[in-house]
Amino acid sequence: MTATLDEQDLQQGFEDVIAADQRIEPRDWMPEAYRKTLVRQIAQHAHSEIIGMQPEGNWILRAPSLRRKAILLAKVQDEAGHGMYLYAAAETLGVDREELTEKLISGRQKYSSIFNYPTLSYADVGVIGWLVDGAAICNQVPLCRCSYGPYARAMIRICKEESFHQRQGYELLLAMVNGTDAQREMVQESTNRFWWPSLMMFGPPDADSPNTSQSMGWGIKRHTNDELRQRFVDMTVPQAEALGITLPDPDLRWNAERGHYDFSEPDWSELKAVISGSGPCNAQRLAHRRRAHEDGAWVRDAAAAYAAKHGGSR
Ligand SMILES: [Fe+2]
Ligand SMILES: [Fe+2]
Repeated sequence: MTATLDEQDLQQGFEDVIAADQRIEPRDWMPEAYRKTLVRQIAQHAHSEIIGMQPEGNWILRAPSLRRKAILLAKVQDEAGHGMYLYAAAETLGVDREELTEKLISGRQKYSSIFNYPTLSYADVGVIGWLVDGAAICNQVPLCRCSYGPYARAMIRICKEESFHQRQGYELLLAMVNGTDAQREMVQESTNRFWWPSLMMFGPPDADSPNTSQSMGWGIKRHTNDELRQRFVDMTVPQAEALGITLPDPDLRWNAERGHYDFSEPDWSELKAVISGSGPCNAQRLAHRRRAHEDGAWVRDAAAAYAAKHGGSR
């Protein structure tokens, strides 16, 4: 049998697994483009979890009570855990976490645009839990069925924790909207700032998202950006009503014919600017991550020396 035939068999085997909606595992043959797409997506996801600790971490020392501090600490620690699972999932594809971290801090790999916005009040902690973790859930629940096994399995645990994150955010907002006028205004002001960036978390509109169809063909992605964005809007509007908060879109209304809410287009030029590095906090977020990585060098060195002494590989 020639090498070309072998390759064809392998390709066919891969396609059969995808067509049967089964999982590709690290030991299985996979096309190089599939592997690269997954590395990029999982790395970007892992980086988002890690960078995403910063906006809320900003408020840990200023939490208004011990209870709020304990909740926020637990939430931010969960995000670190998500980053670790995801780097481990990426490593099953033959890349190294150190290499991915280098790419993040040198700006060669991206993370979610949402974390380049500042957190200006404690209401932002609630609104991030409600809207940002809420959008993350919409994006991530379908990834539990991703064709790549290690990623799909990591997402199951992560989604359970994201659901706790969304509830803790909503619970904080419920307390605030039942508080003083000033607290209600804080929630409204924060919602006004985070609404559009949350809609942008689903990525550009489908017409401007050339990789979506290939990712869907491979069973990595299950829904388009616009489908997920619509799902998020439909889920969020009744929650805003329950809070007595107005979402900052005058054209937001129920469309009985479609069975969905109509809503306005976000400003896509803003998304492009934030992704390309010109968001309000891009430089600050990367500088902070770079500094933390440098400060942690001695821990990595010590762990490597310990492993070498005790016969481990690292
Ligand atoms: Fe997370
Ligand atoms: Fe989260």
